[in-house]
Amino acid sequence: MKFYIRTYGCQMNERDSEAAASALIASGHEMVHDEKMADILLFNTCSVREHAERKALGKVGILIKLKKKKPDIIIGVLGCMAQRLKEKIIEDIPHVDFVAGTDQFHRLPEIVASIILKRKHVVAVDADSEIIENLSGHIHSDNQISAFVSVMRGCNRFCSYCIVPYVRGREKSRGRKEIIEEAKKLVGSGIREILLLGQNIAAYGLEGRGQATEESPFAELLEELCRIDGLLRIRFASPHPQYFNEKLIDAVATLPKICKNVHLPLQSGSDRILKLMNRHYTAEKYLSIVNDLRSKVPEITFSTDIIIGFPTETEEDFNASRTLMKAADFDNAYIFKYSTRSGTKAAEMKDDVPQPVKDERNQILLADLAEMTERHNKAIVGSTLEVLVEGVSKRNSERWCGRSDSNSVVVFDPVPGIKIGDLVKLKITRATTMTLFGE
Ligand code: 5AD
Ligand code: SF4
Repeated sequence: MKFYIRTYGCQMNERDSEAAASALIASGHEMVHDEKMADILLFNTCSVREHAERKALGKVGILIKLKKKKPDIIIGVLGCMAQRLKEKIIEDIPHVDFVAGTDQFHRLPEIVASIILKRKHVVAVDADSEIIENLSGHIHSDNQISAFVSVMRGCNRFCSYCIVPYVRGREKSRGRKEIIEEAKKLVGSGIREILLLGQNIAAYGLEGRGQATEESPFAELLEELCRIDGLLRIRFASPHPQYFNEKLIDAVATLPKICKNVHLPLQSGSDRILKLMNRHYTAEKYLSIVNDLRSKVPEITFSTDIIIGFPTETEEDFNASRTLMKAADFDNAYIFKYSTRSGTKAAEMKDDVPQPVKDERNQILLADLAEMTERHNKAIVGSTLEVLVEGVSKRNSERWCGRSDSNSVVVFDPVPGIKIGDLVKLKITRATTMTLFGE
């Protein structure tokens, strides 16, 4: 049958969708990119903020008309929201045929087969720690040079605002051998850049060994991956600052294939709020990681996640976030307005920062960020960057584009002999807030 899959939320969800699609294709189904063509509609959902859930529920809700017209169509809700709301999704939206939670992606072919046969609702939300080794399928186009590789799943951190540990369960790392094999296979099929994924990735291989340690099995994994011939670049997301120890700092600083662009979620610059968030570091500690890496690799860039309007956040707390953002001199930041997630520790506190205040703080940080990005991009003009060629630019088919080590898009006029997947040196001639232009 023809299936269509829509993904909401993070890169881990994108990766799960890809692996699920690959399992469905292996069992004889065909993936389509137009939902009107599909016999099976799948929605891989996100629960991290209420808005993300509302979007997916709204989309699935309006499919009632389609289901009346095409009663045989199969509708499935997958992933984090399926795990959180379980059978309640079917109770509220009975035209949904099945829900499959975060540990059930590898069972999709079986679930779909049972619905075709029995036409009965299925709710599959059990935990299954084996899933991580059962989700290695990839699908990519011939021209694709970058791929996701999941190295661990779940999270043991329980940051007080976060639903992830409840919907994705405890940390589970994949075997190093399996990860290396998957990476080698990808490189063999033309992939040049790998983005390693894990909710608490820097805690890779540390399951059950408490909080931060001096060891870093993740740094060892990076070292081993760097030895793969033909693999040009490695990125990773997202590390928790508590596990960014000396070993990992050294690995990032010294291994040439590791991109010198680190996404390090800050969440808040106020020690009082960080404590309430259960983050286990101070603003000073966060900055010391950034400064340590900068002293070793001056050209390194950082991006981050910040939550504004966490319960009890005062003007002073907010200003501490603002000050830290400037001190860390981020290249990019994802700014989120706090959203209460029921069942989390923070949900016991009153969501007391008024919406207009959250909106205002959001605007202030966005303006600060725009100012930082513009300054960084202007400073790059005149320098030479190494760019991994991705192909024709989306905006202008006469031009090509690629990404710098620090993840900036660089647009350039192609010259004969350059191929997708090449690393080329480009002199940056012009910059806008979003794009660099090179030759
Ligand atoms: N409200 C707002 N933002 C959140 N995030 C996680 N939980 C919440 C929440 N309840 C943000 C964090 C995290 C990113 C993926 O989403 O900043 O790093
Ligand atoms: Fe959520 Fe914290 Fe785990 Fe990140 S480290 S997934 S914010 S609980």
